[in-house]
Amino acid sequence: MRVLVVGAGGREHALVWRLAQDPAVTSLLAAPGNPGIAELAECHPAAIDDVAQMVSLVDHLRPDLVVVGPELPLVGGLADALHARGVVVFGPTASAARLEGSKAFAKDLLQRSGIPTARSGSFDDVEKAIAFVDELGGRAVVKADGLAAGKGVVVAPDRDDAIVAIRSCLVERSFGAAGTVVVVEELLEGPEVSAFALSDGERAVPLSLSRDHKRAGDGDTGPNTGGMGAYAPVPSVDAATEAAIWPMLDRTVAAMGAEGTPYRGVLFAGLMLTADGPKVLEFNCRFGDPEAQVVLPRLATDPAELFRACATGLLQDRRIRWRDEPAVSVVVASGGYPGPYEVGLPIEGLHEAGAMEGITVFHAGTALDDAGRVVTAGGRVLDVTATGATLREARDRAYRAAASITFEGARYRRDIAADAAEEEGA
Ligand code: AMP
Ligand code: GLY
Repeated sequence: MRVLVVGAGGREHALVWRLAQDPAVTSLLAAPGNPGIAELAECHPAAIDDVAQMVSLVDHLRPDLVVVGPELPLVGGLADALHARGVVVFGPTASAARLEGSKAFAKDLLQRSGIPTARSGSFDDVEKAIAFVDELGGRAVVKADGLAAGKGVVVAPDRDDAIVAIRSCLVERSFGAAGTVVVVEELLEGPEVSAFALSDGERAVPLSLSRDHKRAGDGDTGPNTGGMGAYAPVPSVDAATEAAIWPMLDRTVAAMGAEGTPYRGVLFAGLMLTADGPKVLEFNCRFGDPEAQVVLPRLATDPAELFRACATGLLQDRRIRWRDEPAVSVVVASGGYPGPYEVGLPIEGLHEAGAMEGITVFHAGTALDDAGRVVTAGGRVLDVTATGATLREARDRAYRAAASITFEGARYRRDIAADAAEEEGA
């Protein structure tokens, strides 16, 4: 099978890395890829959000399967355009990707389907949105409806913060067209978990739970980021809680099918484990980043045929096999991230880290400079990923490897999977 992976980050490096171990994959391509991906796949330049350019590249490359990593091309209709040309695509159509592309759409679907979620309303009017904040008792979460690269959500513990966030979205248009509608919802409390399932449009087959660390600083302090590290599995989630989670994804897939927009691809539910049970915070139409970097190394079932089965509606009741070893990924970020940061800084120690036991270093934001050296090119630069006999061992390995990689200003959280490793030992 000739497989093309669309994307340029750590998630796509993990996808390419796992596909490269699949004997069914005879040729591996990426668009645009990155220097880490280039060690495993033939990379072709293309802009991730340019559907027409991607389609002509696919026409030229003629893959048997296209695996789309990021949400932007999916929400933009890349899967639709490729279907129209008879190409097999792992990733939902634009109307199915609305589960991520419009939070108002997702909330409506959750409510219609009776799936537990925070109480909410969608507004294009400032006064009505504020009235709803009052109805919620002055504590709320304010979300731009559309895609805002993880920056469109404000957790507002008091009324004034909520009003600032509503105005920033609806009046100042801080998120442009993504913020013409604002979703205001009840502020929930509890630990979060990411749930991934595979769907072929008919059913959701559970993949894995994992946990991301979204805040920039240790102890969950500082601003939200795209994710500073992850681990899987999540030992603190008991069997009863997990058993309550998967039917929510299955009902979502059933509702999408019943409404004429079958969902095919990875369905990612971000959940909060509240005192009243798990509730869905949001859906994403793709693998999480950096969650994919800890889920894919544990996947024992070969992925190419699995992804193709999703794309062609033939998933049936496939059982997916997993390796026992837990995985931990530590994101090494540029100094300043998630604020402004410098790029083009040479990275040292990549080979040494990659040679350590149990370690794979996924490239998230790197480039090659004119001299062919790997340099920084993004906020999240590397995902130092380890497997081990226990979460504690995986964690120790990941941190030992992270410490051996250097670039100016490099920083990472010191507490990725710390609580989980602690609980595991208890
Ligand atoms: P989302 O993009 O909807 O997942 O929101 C990003 C982050 O905001 C989540 O991971 C949570 O940490 C937080 N968040 C979102 N919705 C809520 C909510 N209803 N209550 C509390 N925190 C929330
Ligand atoms: N790590 C969270 C996300 O990919 O949305």
